[in-house]
Amino acid sequence: MSEPIIQLKNVHKTFQIANQHVHALRGVDLTMRKGQMVAVTGRSGSGKSTLLHVIGTLDTPSSGVVALNGRDVSNLTDKDASTFRNRTVGFVFQMNNLLPEFSAIENVIMPGLIAGLSRDALRERANALLQAVDLGHRLEHRPAELSGGEQQRVAIARALLMEPPLLLCDEPTGNLDKKNGERVEEILVELSRRTQVTMLLVTHDNELAKRLPYQVVMEDGNIVDYGGSW
Ligand SMILES: Nc1ncnc2c1ncn2[C@@H]1O[C@H](COP(=O)(O)OP(=O)(O)OP(=O)(O)O)[C@@H](O)[C@H]1O
Ligand SMILES: [Mg+2]
Repeated sequence: MSEPIIQLKNVHKTFQIANQHVHALRGVDLTMRKGQMVAVTGRSGSGKSTLLHVIGTLDTPSSGVVALNGRDVSNLTDKDASTFRNRTVGFVFQMNNLLPEFSAIENVIMPGLIAGLSRDALRERANALLQAVDLGHRLEHRPAELSGGEQQRVAIARALLMEPPLLLCDEPTGNLDKKNGERVEEILVELSRRTQVTMLLVTHDNELAKRLPYQVVMEDGNIVDYGGSW
């Protein structure tokens, strides 16, 4: 077995809003290995997005440890966390957050420009990725000139540009109709398999969850069930 790429030990997350205390994660333990593709399901409010945010260093746990590639990332400074994310984690959210004034290919190369890589090399890589998500004919279109499914495919290409070891997807097809959703899912699963990225994918769609080799079910801030051979 390969080294664990993600390790969570007894991770808690609480939020304090006014005088209300929300215990969103309640002692989550999770170990994932390279190339593992895991679907996360569970009722609304069960802590799925919070789990993804904590793993992706978008948020810090209140207690417990999150280690990625053997490095404890539970308490990085904002600056260290953003450098770490740029190199290590690709995100695909329900809202694609593409930059409206930039073309598809420029949106895709953005993480590389932030990392200080050369534009020419990046454009070549972005071109190949956009071909891989079937958008070779839409390189210069801006987000508003693309369909929802196409926008989400641009977001997938952008997430994979830096060849991150980890891909975190939160309801990536949640805003799409069935047909477009299925197309995006197909591309996402196929590309993830091919690049051997380690993937956590939050979804309300049990059919999609079953297409991944592993599943976890969350309830009330914890993982309560596992699918696949862990
Ligand atoms: N920033 C926040 N501040 C306060 N409470 C929060 C915050 N983020 C999430 N919560 C609360 O934490 C709990 C878990 O939320 P989370 O977003 O992780 O659920 P989820 O499983 O992703 O739900 P959904 O399927 O609806 O997206 C919820 O009760 C939510 O209200
Ligand atoms: Mg959520």
